[in-house]
Amino acid sequence: MKIKFLSIVAIAALMTSCSGDKPKADVKETTPVKKEVKQEAPAKTEVVSTASFMDDKGVGPITSIELGELDTALAGKGKAAYKSNGCISCHKISKRFVGPALKGVTQRRSPEWIMNMILDPEGMVANNEAARQLLAEYSAPMANQNVSEEDARAILEYFRTKN
Ligand code: HEC
Repeated sequence: MKIKFLSIVAIAALMTSCSGDKPKADVKETTPVKKEVKQEAPAKTEVVSTASFMDDKGVGPITSIELGELDTALAGKGKAAYKSNGCISCHKISKRFVGPALKGVTQRRSPEWIMNMILDPEGMVANNEAARQLLAEYSAPMANQNVSEEDARAILEYFRTKN
């Protein structure tokens, strides 16, 4: 009798251990999470909108600039003008300082926008949304350094070497 009883207990134990497998089926049901991750693909629309930074020419005296091949002589002049016009008191190329790091600036702003920012920073923060956002982020206004258009163009060329 005792043996029979024990084997019934053993069978019951086996059965409960079998039913213990059930939660595994639930694990499968969580796989749809992967599908949700895939649906995040519309981030592509953001990429499209960053491409349109080239359409934002800012507000100021410069309305159209044609960039050719990199002009290294002009970039050299720009490097000197960047120093002599006092940009270095607020900017570093690779690090945030009073103003943003200027590395890669030609990859996020159009040539016209950059020159307008140099030539008329007050007009830019007053009338251009991107400049206004920068001011909000840096909470210090960029100073007008009374840069000549020629120097501003050379500084733009210098920035093209800093991508
Ligand atoms: C008094 C400090 C100061 C000086 C001097 C200064 N800047 Fe700025 N600059 C800033 C700040 C701060 C910003 C961020 C925008 C703002 O707050 O108005 C900025 C923004 C910029 C931007 C836009 C950067 C981006 O990420 O889009 C460029 C380009 C720029 N400056 C170039 C220059 C050049 C070139 C000179 C020299 C002719 C110069 N700055 C002089 C403080 C300065």
